[in-house]
Amino acid sequence: MSVTINYNNMMQHVLGDKGIADSEIQSMEQFALKAFDTVEAGRGNDMQGWMDSPYDQDEVVKAIVKKAEEIRNYDAFVVLGIGGSALGPIAVFQALKHLYYNELPREKRNGPRFYVLDNVDPERMNALFDIIDVEKTIFNVITKSGATSETMSQYLIINDLLKKRLGDKANKHIIATTSSSKGSLIGLAKEQGYDTFFIPEGVGGRFSELCPVGLLPAAVVGIDIAKMLEGAKHMDQVCRNKNLYSNPALMSALLQYISMKKGKNITVMMPYADSLKYIADWYCQLWAESLGKAVDNDGNIVHAGQTPVKSLGVTDQHSQVQLYAEGPFDKVITFIEVQNFRSKCEIPGGLEQLPNVSFLSGNTLNDLMSKELYATRYALTKQKRSNYTIVLDKVDEFNLGALLYLFQMQTAYCGAMLNINTYDQPGVEEGKNATYALFGRKGYEEKARELREATPDSDKYII
Ligand code: PA5
Repeated sequence: MSVTINYNNMMQHVLGDKGIADSEIQSMEQFALKAFDTVEAGRGNDMQGWMDSPYDQDEVVKAIVKKAEEIRNYDAFVVLGIGGSALGPIAVFQALKHLYYNELPREKRNGPRFYVLDNVDPERMNALFDIIDVEKTIFNVITKSGATSETMSQYLIINDLLKKRLGDKANKHIIATTSSSKGSLIGLAKEQGYDTFFIPEGVGGRFSELCPVGLLPAAVVGIDIAKMLEGAKHMDQVCRNKNLYSNPALMSALLQYISMKKGKNITVMMPYADSLKYIADWYCQLWAESLGKAVDNDGNIVHAGQTPVKSLGVTDQHSQVQLYAEGPFDKVITFIEVQNFRSKCEIPGGLEQLPNVSFLSGNTLNDLMSKELYATRYALTKQKRSNYTIVLDKVDEFNLGALLYLFQMQTAYCGAMLNINTYDQPGVEEGKNATYALFGRKGYEEKARELREATPDSDKYII
């Protein structure tokens, strides 16, 4: 396995006064180690149960693999979930399966077609019914709270349809992944006799990919989930190292923290591999929802956080890189480089009369991808733009588990440095409560009154 971080292009010896000096890192070493101690002190407690995920799931993995085997004969597997209950399954599926998996013939797929419904767009919901047969589909309802309006409305629609078609057998088509003790879904699951997997209490949505939330969907499409957990365990061992200079999550958290303090309020996640495209989405949620906080742990108003932006190499070289190279100095760019792609594609000759095209012939798309990454990194660095590169020797289960865990650790350390609660999301709750009030849900009368009294739109500002 190999997942390493090259942060040369964050530093002063490359970027001059736009970079970070060795002495700055040295002067903040104790600060970083304090964040390390804070995270270690919380290991396994409260909302840091995700740090146990690589170690305590042998039985869960066995049960998941057994269930996944049964599901593999179905025609489709559909995840109903949103936020942390959807982004991980999407990212891991894209990373580790054939990039046109759903379009492959059944014998090549060797598993059900895979879909994640992570929105309540009525067009998408109805479009799904045009391509699946619910009688040949398993639906995995994933919601830790068991009360998320989006997921539960999807569940109501699916359950209604299944009951109309299958009567008493409808329950065989629904698997619930939820809290074992809280929320409405666990009660429903027991009452209806659904197969159920549990989200540990100390694992929040955005930290849940390496628990049944992500492991069941991954296993259903044939991903080796034990290897993913081995990768996470390996990264956990690396990050148990109380040494700033050999702990990649701690060092990258500190680099981001120092950058934020210097006004770099945007962080761009730019993998150079289509397989990792949705890792950027997953990362954006992890970073945004964990670190974007109004108040710190001492009650001070801080409005902390750094805006994550997803980008894809080489595609976004032709849309965003102009801004990254010449716009404001307000960004840190994280490249993800894959050294060995799982397949090779040669660029043939045939246009020798066109020298501006023929130089490509005899190379591979693999070369083009890696040279374009090198060139873009060079161009940005020349413009003194802060960037670092996470290098994966290849995209496989082990490295992906390690990468996900690395980002979770980096987020936890950065949250400790910012002295904020990494694991809550009060800003999201406000919107959820307002939605309940708009629907007239019982208990939200006060919120409904607040909404009625909010400043109405003025026609003056509508054109
Ligand atoms: O990270 C989080 O906590 C959120 O993004 C949740 O995952 C999201 O709101 C969905 O919550 P639930 O799993 O309770 O339906």
